[in-house]
Amino acid sequence: MRSQNEIGNSRTTKAPAAAAPAVSRRSVLKGSTAAMGAAATFAAMGTNFAWAQVSEEIKVGLIGCGGRGSGAAVNIMEAAGIVKQGVKIHACADAFASQTKRIQDKYKIEAKNVFAGLDAYKELVASDIELVIMATPPGFRPIHFAAAIDAGKHVFFEKPVASDIWGVREVIAAGKRAQEKKLAAVTGTQRRHQTNYNQAIEQIHAGAIGDVTHMSVYWNGQDIWFRQPEPGMTAMEEQVHNWYHHIWLSGDQICEQHIHNLDIANWVMNGHPISALGLGGRQVRDAMGQKPGEIWDHFGIEYEYANGARVLSQCRHWPKSDSNVSEYAIGSKGTFSGNDGTTSLTIGGKKQTFKSERSGYVQEHVDMINSIKAGKPLNEAQRVAESTLTAIIGRTSAYTGKKVMWDWAMNESKQRLVPENISKDAEPPKVVVPQPGVTPLV
Ligand SMILES: NC(=O)c1ccc[n+]([C@@H]2O[C@H](COP(=O)([O-])OP(=O)(O)OC[C@H]3O[C@@H](n4cnc5c(N)ncnc54)[C@H](O)[C@@H]3O)[C@@H](O)[C@H]2O)c1
Repeated sequence: MRSQNEIGNSRTTKAPAAAAPAVSRRSVLKGSTAAMGAAATFAAMGTNFAWAQVSEEIKVGLIGCGGRGSGAAVNIMEAAGIVKQGVKIHACADAFASQTKRIQDKYKIEAKNVFAGLDAYKELVASDIELVIMATPPGFRPIHFAAAIDAGKHVFFEKPVASDIWGVREVIAAGKRAQEKKLAAVTGTQRRHQTNYNQAIEQIHAGAIGDVTHMSVYWNGQDIWFRQPEPGMTAMEEQVHNWYHHIWLSGDQICEQHIHNLDIANWVMNGHPISALGLGGRQVRDAMGQKPGEIWDHFGIEYEYANGARVLSQCRHWPKSDSNVSEYAIGSKGTFSGNDGTTSLTIGGKKQTFKSERSGYVQEHVDMINSIKAGKPLNEAQRVAESTLTAIIGRTSAYTGKKVMWDWAMNESKQRLVPENISKDAEPPKVVVPQPGVTPLV
């Protein structure tokens, strides 16, 4: 791996300058005795504690400068304005130098803080940033998340947080380390930060619609992009470039997109499922010329929860078909309906509607920054890892034709799709379309 500009990168890690929530960095820098004492106390507790604090202008590093990464950079800047906190996009990294250019130009990032290559994250997390935004293909997330937490950085990481069961376990373990170090680990499951979902689900948990016995959740969309290889790309780079179509990188649609709706199911049900039984296939992708690639284009999964309730999930990429991205719950006293903008509860024939007061994409950054400033950094790692695993056990059941139990997956499965060597010239995983009866349950 090399930086985009072949800089030697001899930067040292930022000294722990900050102190307790009650003592601002400015007062530490002014050298007041009380503040110096607090700084010494926190230094004695270990640098990790001090890292949980941030500067007056939080230095942000972005890994993955594509569509969502660019969007998240805009979102955190908007959030910064709302909470009146200085934030600066200070460094960026991407597998491809061509992708970093727009971000570098837009935020006037110094050349020494711009990194390119499949290993660029290593230099970014070792730089003097305080918070990392991760928006690469999901397969890389467990590796990047662990590296950022181990380097003492707060993290905003996009969903899903893994593409395989190995990755889910890595994220849970790194999430625990984040907790110990008082580092934020906030994920791009923006519905969790929207008032429309929070207000309705709070009422569900208070018993408004009675016991929830059934949910249906959907991400039925039309299609997804397909990227042809560009001249000079190695076989590994071709897969990374066209990442959605490779399971080790995207986790397939059920993981990559449908996680949003499965996350709502787990939220409403107050926990994760105990098993998944699913089906699906690759019906239209070949006809659409989406080769090479091994992802399917539809899934239908039945999840069972600990109380016996069932959640039926559908997702698909079928052109010219009806779209539906939503959630629906049936309780003993009423029903819940949710979609990105609006949710509602219907009880005794009366409908109560809830609107999202602010874009979830901005609110999640508002909540993250506020939590860091308050010294109580949000940590969503375990929860989003569980929602990721919910998608993965559904996918695994569909691919293999077997019922997949949660406890088996969490504790015994040996599923690892992400290769150990992810260098530019390494051989990428083979393109094999999963087939029930042939694809093994491991
Ligand atoms: N929360 C949401 O609603 C939402 C919406 C869109 C995307 N996302 C998520 O954001 C992530 C990125 O999606 P996108 O649409 O921006 O994709 P994209 O292809 O537009 O961008 C991904 C970027 O990551 C870069 N990249 C690939 N491998 C890398 C590596 N090892 N190191 C550094 N950079 C690497 C790519 O070159 C590309 O620039 C996905 O996980 C996706 O699920 C979330």
